[in-house]
Amino acid sequence: MSQVATLFSKTKIDYSWSFSDKTRKDTAYITHGYHRYPAKFIPQIVSRLAEKYTKEGDLIVDPFDGCGTTLVESKVMGRPSVGVDINPVAVLITKARI
Ligand SMILES: C[S@@+](CC[C@H](N)C(=O)[O-])C[C@H]1O[C@@H](n2cnc3c(N)ncnc32)[C@H](O)[C@@H]1O
Repeated sequence: MSQVATLFSKTKIDYSWSFSDKTRKDTAYITHGYHRYPAKFIPQIVSRLAEKYTKEGDLIVDPFDGCGTTLVESKVMGRPSVGVDINPVAVLITKARI
């Protein structure tokens, strides 16, 4: 078995990160349901990470911002944020959502 496969086989999976109990309604609150976008985060992942690794007032940067899930959640949580995306449609959606 490769070292990577061995590492994964020994890693305990924390299923609380699957958010499998979340419905579309749970993930589309405030402006999160405005527009579809490929490979979109569910907002609960962003808020859990922000809660764990930042405090109110910390700057959050998402260099591949997509349609702005990170920026919306940052605003809700009182963290200033900056998003960057190469796709002008993504930037437009983000501006509308925040
Ligand atoms: C999977 S999406 C991110 C979705 C986001 N996490 C959300 O929940 O809305 C990845 C984004 O990276 C952007 N991207 C890809 N290459 C890039 C680059 N070189 N510079 C900036 N953005 C880039 C794409 O346009 C796409 O919007």
